[in-house]
Amino acid sequence: MAATLIPHGPKGKFILGVMPDFNRDPLGFIEKLARDYGDVVRTQFFYVPAYFIYHPDQIEQVLATDNKNFIKPLSFRTPFFQRLVGNGLLTSEGDFWRRQRRLAQPAFHRERINGYGAIMVKDCLKMLETWTDGETLDIHLEMMRLTMEIVTHTLFNVNVTDDAEKVAAALATLVEPFGHQATLKWILDNRLPTPGNRRFHKTAARLDEVVYRIISERRAGGNEDQGDLLSMLLQAHDEDGSQMTDQQLRDEVITLFLAGQETTALTLTWGWYLLSQHPEAEEKLWQELDEVLGGRAPETGDMPRLKFTEMIVKESLRLYPPAYVVGRESVKDCEIGGYRVPASTQVFMPPWVVHRDPRFFDEPDKFKPERWTPEFTSALPKYAYFPFGGGPRICIGNSFAMMEIVLLMATIAQRFRLRLAPDQKVTIIPAMSLRPRDGIKMKIVNRKS
Ligand code: HEM
Repeated sequence: MAATLIPHGPKGKFILGVMPDFNRDPLGFIEKLARDYGDVVRTQFFYVPAYFIYHPDQIEQVLATDNKNFIKPLSFRTPFFQRLVGNGLLTSEGDFWRRQRRLAQPAFHRERINGYGAIMVKDCLKMLETWTDGETLDIHLEMMRLTMEIVTHTLFNVNVTDDAEKVAAALATLVEPFGHQATLKWILDNRLPTPGNRRFHKTAARLDEVVYRIISERRAGGNEDQGDLLSMLLQAHDEDGSQMTDQQLRDEVITLFLAGQETTALTLTWGWYLLSQHPEAEEKLWQELDEVLGGRAPETGDMPRLKFTEMIVKESLRLYPPAYVVGRESVKDCEIGGYRVPASTQVFMPPWVVHRDPRFFDEPDKFKPERWTPEFTSALPKYAYFPFGGGPRICIGNSFAMMEIVLLMATIAQRFRLRLAPDQKVTIIPAMSLRPRDGIKMKIVNRKS
């Protein structure tokens, strides 16, 4: 069924009948809205009113200048998601969120995260030892495993590998439904007592048990700094000396796991796919790696010189932003781009579409890492490119993620070239984040052979 446009005077452009279109092809749908109706589009999902916003000025208004008038969207308050992340940084609001963000921030300071670079490279080298020249691998699966290793090591330190593996396995099961059910279906499904949902709740309880045990063992050991993220969260305290409760720690740990693992794996996965389609960019990457590293493994200190590697990562995040839509809900009536937006309206801002807007990017569908010169970056409207969101709720892990992705890309590309397997069709599934539907099979070729 085609979407019907119903002009709606000063409230904006209203289109009805969108659910079938949206469910069939969410990305095509949000692209078409922008193409057909412009920068501000009003629509409705069942009974839920929603606006789609496509201009950097209005995105800046919602995420930054007017951020106090917006909370996280309805989809973040579903029982499924709440059970998983509780009141962690991604979902909490108001003064509670502000305090938690203040307490968690030092864990992400540059000096602290620099220390994680060596863990990232070490885990990556360990993975490469298992790769054989000429074999074909699902690169999405490999990247998911690798970033899972890294997040468990950086969160919990290497000494608790056994428990960390239990956490990783439980989380992989818990996020399964998000992977297969695109669109809004899971919001409804997870309320029903199906066997799948009962399994979900059982696994969630097991996960809680392990995380709480790790926390209590750390407390019993006097919160000694083990160099990991959990140590920082355990030690964090307010001016009045108050610290996070076990439950808050649990919520933040699961949130960091969830927010930081798949997003990073996906950026790498899409990066490998794009590089396999653009041998000239791959050639330039190797040149940089040979010049800067001369065959040794990369270190955090190499980052400023791995400029082209970083450009590749930025361009991958432009074309395949894992968080392909950023959402909010209005608290009070307001105006966006000349349209009146009532309280309790969902407001969606899709990097997927804005990152491909020809007003801001020439040849927007083309993979052109070299576009990311300092001049281009400073001339670009701030919210024309927002893979990490923006304003006070900007991704707390953005520097951590950039460091991880650049270091892993450098470590892997130094040794191997990745070729798309013959007959491999790549289909995107916009689930919780932007995944390849059936993985991406790639042939691993030793660069030096
Ligand atoms: C390429 C990788 C990543 C991408 C694309 C990404 C994207 C985002 C985006 C778009 C937001 C804002 C959501 C909103 O405004 O509603 C966000 C928030 C967040 N991200 Fe990331 N992220 C990445 C990696 C990470 C990593 C590595 C961590 C932690 C280790 C992390 C932790 C968080 C947390 C805790 C928040 C909530 C922050 C708050 O509201 O205070 N992310 N991320």
